Amino acid sequence: MSGDPASAAARPIAILGGTGPAGTGLALRWARAGEAIIIGSRDAQRARDVAARIRGRVGFEAIVSGMENSAACAAADILMLTVPFETQAAVLKQLKPAMTEGSILIDATVPLAAGIGGRASRTLGVWQGSAAQQAAELVPKGVSVVAAFHNVSAELLNGDAPLDCDVIVCSDDPDAAQLTRELAAKIPGVRAIDGGKLENARTVEQITALLIGLNIRHKGHAGIRITGLPPQAYR
Ligand SMILES: NC(=O)c1ccc[n+]([C@@H]2O[C@H](COP(=O)([O-])OP(=O)(O)OC[C@H]3O[C@@H](n4cnc5c(N)ncnc54)[C@H](OP(=O)(O)O)[C@@H]3O)[C@@H](O)[C@H]2O)c1
Repeated sequence: MSGDPASAAARPIAILGGTGPAGTGLALRWARAGEAIIIGSRDAQRARDVAARIRGRVGFEAIVSGMENSAACAAADILMLTVPFETQAAVLKQLKPAMTEGSILIDATVPLAAGIGGRASRTLGVWQGSAAQQAAELVPKGVSVVAAFHNVSAELLNGDAPLDCDVIVCSDDPDAAQLTRELAAKIPGVRAIDGGKLENARTVEQITALLIGLNIRHKGHAGIRITGLPPQAYR
């Protein structure tokens, strides 16, 4: 990827499928942190409505707009993908022509069995190893894929309290991973951890199914904390 990772704040983040709980939660938290956000949707009006709601919660200083997904994609080079797994491949194929070289695609997709009528506490096998690796096969050359935010509760992201969880970030592009860790660390209470190569997304995605099972069993909003690493491992 191109550009200085430290300049993330100056670049808009397009959240593709940003009208669902995961996308709106990330948008809310990043808008509060001063990031410029473009909500993407199949329906431009729905995207604008969600953007207006987020502006209403954040205040006049919020920089949040709404666009149809392709337009959002073309208007940003930091792309956050928050769509259900069963639509991920089709969405990426549709958006491929709108993605510009040097962009990063942050993928939060969890291949839950619920998407095909199974249990939310189970995952589907993905030929490529993980949803993030499937995404990496589908983006144009020159677009880096990062896996992150799988283990963060959208319910809590949409609230006002600081979170109590870590975000494990996996990518084969160190600059894209660093930028994503910087964005994760802008969410109060979140520590970002370098999780290594994109292939490790396979494990991180699976953890979400366990968290959903724990949420059902204990009626909560589980997250994860990694302990025992040196301080510099946490951002
Ligand atoms: N919810 C969580 O707590 C959580 C936490 C971590 C990760 N995740 C992952 O993040 C992703 C999004 O989660 P979510 O709960 O926000 O999902 P969601 O509400 O089911 O879907 C998000 C958005 O995807 C779009 N979408 C739905 N079907 C589509 C289709 N056939 N084609 C194109 N777009 C479609 C919709 O936007 P429009 O109708 O406006 O286009 C919808 O608002 C999932 O992969 C999930 O596994 C979720």
